[in-house]
Amino acid sequence: MRAEDPVRFDEQREMWDIFRYEDVDRVLKDHDAFTARRTREDNEFSSDAEDDTGMLQTMITVDPPEHNRLRGFVDERFQPGSIREYQPRVEAVTEDVLDALAGKEQFDFVDEFAIPFPVTVIAELLGIPAERRDQFKAWSDALIARPKNGTQTEIQRIQQERQQARQEMSGYFTKLVAERRGGDGDDFITLAANTEELSREEKVGFCILLLLAGNITTTNLLTNAIWSLEEQGLTDAVRTGAIDRKQVVEEVLRYRSPVQSLNRIAIADVELNGKQIQAGDVVTLWLGAANRDPEIFDAPEEFRPEQRPNRHMAFGMGVHFCLGAHLARMEADVAMQQLLERFDRLDANLSNLDPLYSLYGLKSLPCEVN
Ligand code: HEM
Repeated sequence: MRAEDPVRFDEQREMWDIFRYEDVDRVLKDHDAFTARRTREDNEFSSDAEDDTGMLQTMITVDPPEHNRLRGFVDERFQPGSIREYQPRVEAVTEDVLDALAGKEQFDFVDEFAIPFPVTVIAELLGIPAERRDQFKAWSDALIARPKNGTQTEIQRIQQERQQARQEMSGYFTKLVAERRGGDGDDFITLAANTEELSREEKVGFCILLLLAGNITTTNLLTNAIWSLEEQGLTDAVRTGAIDRKQVVEEVLRYRSPVQSLNRIAIADVELNGKQIQAGDVVTLWLGAANRDPEIFDAPEEFRPEQRPNRHMAFGMGVHFCLGAHLARMEADVAMQQLLERFDRLDANLSNLDPLYSLYGLKSLPCEVN
């Protein structure tokens, strides 16, 4: 598709699909021609701050210059210098999650490590008190729950639970934001509470956005890392340091990108690769395909952690480039290091994989350890 029809209109979905790296890059950087505002249907990451259409807006769904107001107050706290300061806390969370696996000979990597780990990290950085962590995790699970059998009853139940979790969590964050105003804590809720830039709803929206954008994506990165190491027979090479962990993380992000696609809406008529896109058209940008574009990556279908300058766009591009990219990288690095230290043997069973495609990962990944 990338080679034959790199910009194509899908008649069924009534949307454009864009596959090439250079085209995806151009759309993501051209805010005058493509907006990040969402349609109600694909408003996955949005939260509580409603705009005049009644739709919920956060930094991820607004364009410059408004975008800068919603992101500027927190940007510094996600830069590499700040992320290094959080590392000891992330290491402590990793130890706790691994301690819960003590004595087991097998466990499901997704349910028992890759899901609880990032949600606990976010809870820690938001400053959620320890006694509310279980409740927090339950809300987070409800927000990201997806139907398993797809029946109408199940879909309705999930929607109701999601709605309820969203309301309870909004109430909880509203209370915490009010309580922490004027405080001097270094947690993200206090940071949001003390900024003059955001309305009360936007502060709550920011807290929920961190949860929505940062959890399932990191879960999938960790799962895809263990999956790829097992598949490529590289687990021991990483354990001994023969292959650099950080390069492995980058190659997993490229090779099995947790976010496979993003949407934008054209707000001007634009010609792209010989096709005429009209204002109002929805475009789907296939990050997963761009990350395997042979014009950019040599042997893109091969997993080669050590042999490429990795210009992948797994975290997007332009002003919406993932706020949590450095945090996610550090989490993955710490998690891999500690997992391989804790277990002399970590064998993932790849025989019955059940991939998730909306955000790319696995439903489960049984592992044997000792
Ligand atoms: C934005 C991917 C982890 C917070 C994005 C975008 C992508 C992405 C592709 C761009 C969205 C767009 O342009 O529409 C990922 C991946 C992750 C990850 C693959 C893990 C492997 C995290 C974490 C956090 C986070 C851990 C926070 C704790 C955000 C936020 C945005 C964002 C707030 C919106 C930024 C903006 O609009 O300016 N992420 N993300 N992400 N991500 Fe991540």
